[in-house]
Amino acid sequence: AAAEKGGYDTFMEKEINEQPRAVGETLLGRTDESGALVLDELRIPEEALRRVGRITIVACGTAAYAGMVAKYAIERWTRIPVEVALAHEFRYCDPIVDEQTLVVSISQSGETMDTLMAVKHARELGAQTIAICNTHGSTIPRESDAVLYTHAGPEVAVASTKAFLAQITACYVLGLYLAQLRGGSYADDAKAVMAELQEVPAKIEALLGSLDRVREIARFMADTRAVLFLGRQVGFPVAMEGALKLKELAYIHAEGFAAGELKHGPIALIEPGQPVFIVVPGPDTPHGLHGKVVSNIQEIRARGARTLVIAQEGDDAVVPFADEVIRVPRTSPMLQPLLTTVPLQVFALELSTAKGLDVDQPRNLAKSVTVE
Ligand code: G6P
Repeated sequence: AAAEKGGYDTFMEKEINEQPRAVGETLLGRTDESGALVLDELRIPEEALRRVGRITIVACGTAAYAGMVAKYAIERWTRIPVEVALAHEFRYCDPIVDEQTLVVSISQSGETMDTLMAVKHARELGAQTIAICNTHGSTIPRESDAVLYTHAGPEVAVASTKAFLAQITACYVLGLYLAQLRGGSYADDAKAVMAELQEVPAKIEALLGSLDRVREIARFMADTRAVLFLGRQVGFPVAMEGALKLKELAYIHAEGFAAGELKHGPIALIEPGQPVFIVVPGPDTPHGLHGKVVSNIQEIRARGARTLVIAQEGDDAVVPFADEVIRVPRTSPMLQPLLTTVPLQVFALELSTAKGLDVDQPRNLAKSVTVE
């Protein structure tokens, strides 16, 4: 078993460290020499994809957070409306789906019953279905019109890490491909983003080598009762995922919020010493979102929160209001989840370990849930 873990103490740690490769492999072979995306593997004809009028993403758990990231990215890049539905809710809300709807399922295992049932229902309603999946030959891809595999390799730890980054990557690839099909300035923009995406695996690698302070913070926090996570735009699902990891692995009450929602309720939770992670959008994020999140940090700090700030290298505006600054390499705003997620995974792993818990097999959870 030690050999299977590649020298790491746990599968989760190994899988966190495999993320540069998971992202790189998911990009590999999907572009030609000119940098254009080639997705012949999608057996849906280009004409049919050009006619897509709306996209619905169905998934559960961590995969659903990948779907939330995808919504922001695909809508921005293609202007096609995207909706994200938890798979177990989708079927029971009389979904509005027709032949012009593309239903994209996201599942690491390809066996999650809730997601499978959502896909079957979508097909019955006439939708085209694409599975984003990590497991060859699994059920959901077989029940879908097409599949875009994530090449994360087998994921053993119950809590998803490398599969999540690979799912986000595959969603980007799909969105950029649809943008390319749209042509004109959409295609030009897609090409530029794709070039940046190719640089991300090396940035994750660099980031993984710089997280000693995060581990230290986690070890000091072994007795913490509650942790809050704030993010905005694509940082919002990252905050949700950070909270989920902590619940799953360390059995600590954790909640992720959209930072703008703070003043509408959650700020009441802030009392002296309350730890809050803030996923800060890069300074070049449109609509001045960076400044707005910096104000949020200031607001909660003034009420005594202990602010653990995840910010891009060179972002000095956060420093005066941060108890801790965790740096991530620079990339364009839409691609940041591939970096900002990583310190939160390491934090949950380390805190769980500090509490003496079973990181790979948390209580009450299963790697794939094959019942409804
Ligand atoms: C289970 C796992 C989660 C996972 C979810 C979806 O609940 O514990 O980590 O995110 O299923 O799994 P899937 O295989 O469909 O991605």
